[in-house]
Amino acid sequence: MPSAPRSVLALCLGNICRSPIAEGLLRYHVQRLGLDIEIDSAGTSGYHAGESPDPRSVEVMRRHGHDISGQRSRQLVQSDLTRFDLILAMDQSNLRNACRLAQNEVLHAKVQLILDQEDVPDPYYGGDRGFDHVYQLIDEAVIRWVATWHP
Ligand code: 4NP
Repeated sequence: MPSAPRSVLALCLGNICRSPIAEGLLRYHVQRLGLDIEIDSAGTSGYHAGESPDPRSVEVMRRHGHDISGQRSRQLVQSDLTRFDLILAMDQSNLRNACRLAQNEVLHAKVQLILDQEDVPDPYYGGDRGFDHVYQLIDEAVIRWVATWHP
């Protein structure tokens, strides 16, 4: 079983839809298990820097009892690769873009897909159902990740 990371960054494109949900669920499950792990999220783009999460992400999380309205979007920076022990990318494109900032093998290995085989689909241009699906995928993935960090 891998040792627990001290810090985890959730990563998507805009940091307003998927990774804010992942940040909220990572915080929830890490706290539920009594783990001491720093959690944050970012986007590979800066399109939405400074913005609140998408209202559809806030709403799906609210329905499940989580308040993510205080989060603000920020762009991934090179120092995140050294600052965080693990970077969980929502899709292959986010993974590739983060890996471009990794200057050596150790930093490269920190960037992983949140799901084993599939992407968390980008729900930005879809309807509300897309956000329910994304919530379920991310919640199940986070539960699997935190279980591997539990002593
Ligand atoms: P996210 O979704 O990467 O899950 O935050 C998106 C948000 C905004 C855009 C694309 C995806 N956009 O093109 O502005």
